[in-house]
Amino acid sequence: MDLLLVEPSRQMLQIAEEYCRANIRHPASVQSLCANIEAVTETRLRQCVELPITFVNASASLHHLQRTAKIAALRLLSNLCKFTFVSELEGNHEELQPLSPEIVFSVLIFYGTLVADTTRSILTEVDLESCRDGFLMAEAFLILGGTRESRGDYHTTKNQWGKIITASGSESKVVAYEFIGRYPLRIMTLSALRSAGSTTRKC
Ligand SMILES: C[S@@+](CC[C@H](N)C(=O)[O-])C[C@H]1O[C@@H](n2cnc3c(N)ncnc32)[C@H](O)[C@@H]1O
Repeated sequence: MDLLLVEPSRQMLQIAEEYCRANIRHPASVQSLCANIEAVTETRLRQCVELPITFVNASASLHHLQRTAKIAALRLLSNLCKFTFVSELEGNHEELQPLSPEIVFSVLIFYGTLVADTTRSILTEVDLESCRDGFLMAEAFLILGGTRESRGDYHTTKNQWGKIITASGSESKVVAYEFIGRYPLRIMTLSALRSAGSTTRKC
């Protein structure tokens, strides 16, 4: 098995690489590419792994991209593989303007849920404070008060994800979603996602 990790933060990449090497039970080669996914070309990926790739897991990272870049990244990834998993947080921070009443409400619910989760975690007091103040609240304030461009997070609703996937032409490849945020963690098929509020099933 060949695994390629793509991540722009060297520190995060190192943690992920060490975790994979220590926990994958089958013989596997683990490679890493320190890059923003939108800056990676097919040629570059071809140099790292043999195509076609069996599956891509876009794990909680595409929300860092604005809509057009999300579409382009999904198109590139799904062109290279048989299946694409999109694991994402659900929020409505893609199109709303800074300081609009809608974004204030959305940020309150979204980050309120995540902050509440940290208090139930096994983090030490110091790590908990750093996670809450240095990470979650920092993001929340940037979404609330920064310009759209300076924001690093463009959390997207299920409905918007469906449209983004359609626009990228990757509908037949995206087999599952996993939305984390306001709702309990769920894995849904694309058709379940489409029929809003209908039954969800684990894949
Ligand atoms: C919420 S964390 C998720 C980390 C990990 N993938 C996981 O699922 O646990 C978001 C990650 O996306 C990375 N990221 C930010 N911008 C990115 C981009 N343009 N392309 C790829 N990854 C990006 C961040 O460095 C960060 O490690």
